[in-house]
Amino acid sequence: MTQQLRIPGPTPLPERVLRAMGQPMIDHRGPEFAALHREVATGVREVFGTAQAELLILSSSGTGSMESAVANLVSPGDKVVVCTGGVFGDRFADINRAFGAEVVQLAVDWGQPVEPSQLADVLTANADAGIVFLTHNETSTGLTNPLEKLARVAREAGRLVVVDAISSASSMPLEMDDWQLDVVLSGSQKGWMAPPGIAFAAVAKRAWEAVDRSRSPRFYFDWRSHRTWAEKGFTPSTPAVSTLFAVQEGIRILKEEGLANAYRRHRRIADATAAGLEAAGMTLLARDGYRSATVTAAVVPDGIAVEDLRKLLSSRHGVVIAGGRGTAKISERIVRVGHLGAVTEGDIVQVLWAIEQVLEELDHAPADGRTLAAAQKVVQGASEAVGSRQ
Ligand SMILES: Cc1ncc(COP(=O)(O)O)c(C=O)c1O
Repeated sequence: MTQQLRIPGPTPLPERVLRAMGQPMIDHRGPEFAALHREVATGVREVFGTAQAELLILSSSGTGSMESAVANLVSPGDKVVVCTGGVFGDRFADINRAFGAEVVQLAVDWGQPVEPSQLADVLTANADAGIVFLTHNETSTGLTNPLEKLARVAREAGRLVVVDAISSASSMPLEMDDWQLDVVLSGSQKGWMAPPGIAFAAVAKRAWEAVDRSRSPRFYFDWRSHRTWAEKGFTPSTPAVSTLFAVQEGIRILKEEGLANAYRRHRRIADATAAGLEAAGMTLLARDGYRSATVTAAVVPDGIAVEDLRKLLSSRHGVVIAGGRGTAKISERIVRVGHLGAVTEGDIVQVLWAIEQVLEELDHAPADGRTLAAAQKVVQGASEAVGSRQ
């Protein structure tokens, strides 16, 4: 049975990407690698919306890029503000604590956005906190924070803005320069249509000044050596070359589609997924208006065990979706459907169809096509809206 992998990364890979990864190995200190590095760095900067920031290519998972940001920007004893509303916001707080920072945590309930006014209050009360850490898209709850507005509040208060865009970049609008973000991070296994192994850190001018000030120990992730090597088209140590081939191909595919089209596709599919899950009797976790374009989290109906649902989806239908993450009470009651990277409406139809079959098998509701009808209505509405603009 072919698997329909619908977790919020890693994602299924297009055939072209798989072939790209099978290329023979190259000298990572030779001209072919420099060309690969240049093409990927240019492509990622375009996706991030930056002409100014320097792009560092790290061989690590996304968490490595987060740790690199803390190691390069924060010194022991520094006060920082970390906005949290799920597992990945918490991770930024934990990394900061591990590096000896004094963390002021602006914690919102799971599924709720960080409000700009809340951030403004916290910054007023903590004038000595120099950096704000934000999660653009909280993958554990399926929520996208109002990044542009939050960044404006932080910038107006004169703070550095560090953004985990790991599960948002390349799938939803992101404008690093226009929104004055100082650091933006992402990881290859999300919307980039590549496997895990590569992370990106875009670092703008103000952040470099903080890098020079930081007293934290760092070596593998020292951004200064990464910058020196990146200027020549290389990395300080042996990079994950095959994953970079994949990222290169993924960016080419993204450009062929056009970024704006890719964003629209993600939004449309997310809305269709949300409508389908609601029709299945689930309750969406993220607040309306802040629902993620890359992952939808929903509370399963009473009487249904998440693990039974996921096991049957996988064993009977080859559909793999994620459960909840973290220790919050709600995480035991949610499923998360990933719809990022190479995803089509057809993929989501298959997921919803399988969910209906399993819910019938679990005696919850008859499989009568209600989720598919709900999803189709959304997709039709989206295409009519596009049609009427032409
Ligand atoms: C928003 C966000 N931040 C951080 C991470 C951590 O990335 P990784 O698992 O690649 O270390 C993830 C991964 O799911 C994520 O979605």
